[in-house]
Amino acid sequence: MQDVELHRDAALERSSEFENPGLPPHRKRQTDLHPEKAKRAERTVFTWFLVSALGSIIAVAAYIAVPITPGDLTTTRMNNLLLGLGIALALLSIGIGAVHWSKQLMSDEEHVDPRHATRGSDATRAKAVEVFTLGDQESGFSRRSLIRNSLIGALAVVPLPAVVLFRDLAPADEVPTDVFAHTMWETGTRLCLDPTGTPIRAEDVSYGSAFHVIPEGLEESHHPLDEKAMAAVLLMRLPADALNESPERAGWSYDGIVAYSKICTHVGCPVALYEQQTHHLLCPCHQSTFDVKNHCKVIFGPAKRPLPQLPITVDDEGYLIAQRDFTEPIGPSYFERLHDVDEDEHVQVAGTTTEQRA
Ligand code: FES
Repeated sequence: MQDVELHRDAALERSSEFENPGLPPHRKRQTDLHPEKAKRAERTVFTWFLVSALGSIIAVAAYIAVPITPGDLTTTRMNNLLLGLGIALALLSIGIGAVHWSKQLMSDEEHVDPRHATRGSDATRAKAVEVFTLGDQESGFSRRSLIRNSLIGALAVVPLPAVVLFRDLAPADEVPTDVFAHTMWETGTRLCLDPTGTPIRAEDVSYGSAFHVIPEGLEESHHPLDEKAMAAVLLMRLPADALNESPERAGWSYDGIVAYSKICTHVGCPVALYEQQTHHLLCPCHQSTFDVKNHCKVIFGPAKRPLPQLPITVDDEGYLIAQRDFTEPIGPSYFERLHDVDEDEHVQVAGTTTEQRA
C-alpha cells in the first residue's frame, strides 16, 4: 500500500509534514549577564531622553532668538532651520532612547501565545494583569525611576514648540477679533493702485473697469502683507443713476465711484472678478456674488453678508481718499463680529431691498 496518505479536500501529503521546530533557545545579552553594562545602557537611555528635552528647548529658544523679519528671507530660512533642527532632535532622541531601552534592558525572551477567543476568560484576564505586571517588572518602568521620569519629562516638553507656534499665529498685543475690526484706512488716506502705489484721481476711474486698490503708505507699514490682506479694496465707477444708495450711506461714494472691501465675507478669498454689464462682483472660491448697485448685497453663494463699504471722497488735488476706516469688520463672519461694530456708524444692508433703498 502506498505510504503517502492524502488528506481529504487538500493537496497535502502527510509525508511532507514536519515537526514544529519551536523557538530557538534564548541567548542572554551582555546587559543580562553584566549588571554594570545594564547600568551603562540605562545611562545611555537617560542621555537620549535628556537630549530630547534639550532639542525642544533649543526649538523654542531659536524661535524667539531668531525672529522672522518681514520681507527678509534670510531670517525666515534661519528661523525655520533652527526650529526644524530642534524639533527633529527632540523627536529623534525620544525614538532612539525608546529603541535602546527595549533592545538592551527590556526582556527579549520570545513567547508563544496561541490564538483564542476575543474575550478571554476571567482566568485569562487575570493572567493579562499578571503579564502586565511582569512586563512592568522586566522593563523596569516602575523600578527605574530615572529613565521613567526622564521619559515623562521629555514627553511633557515635546508639545512646547507646537504651543509656541500656534500661539504666535495671532498678534501678541491684540485680541484676534480686533485684527479684523480695524484696517490701515484712516481719514484722508489716499487710494492707490495695487501694486504700484500710485494715487488714483477720480477722473482716472473709467466706467466698466475695476481698480485693485491699496492704502497709501502700505509699503512703509510694519507688516505690509498683513495690512494689505485686510485693507485691499475694489474701486468701480457706475452711472450715478445705477446706484441704489441707502440714505444712511449717502455721501459714501463720489460721482458714481464706490469702494468695497476685496476680502470675501464667506471665508476670505479675494473677490477679484467684476462683471461690468450687471455690476456684479464674483468670488472665484465658492462663487458668492455681490451686487455693487445695491451695497454689494449677496445675491448668490455661501457668503452671508455684504462686502463692507469704504466711505470715500476726493481731496483738494482731486485724488480719491478715504473718509474713515470701514465701519464693520472685514472678511469672514465670526461670532464676536457684532461686538466690534461701531453701532452708530454701522448700516444694516443685508435685509433691505432695492425698493426700500430707492
Ligand atoms: S470665499 Fe468667497 S465665496 Fe467662499
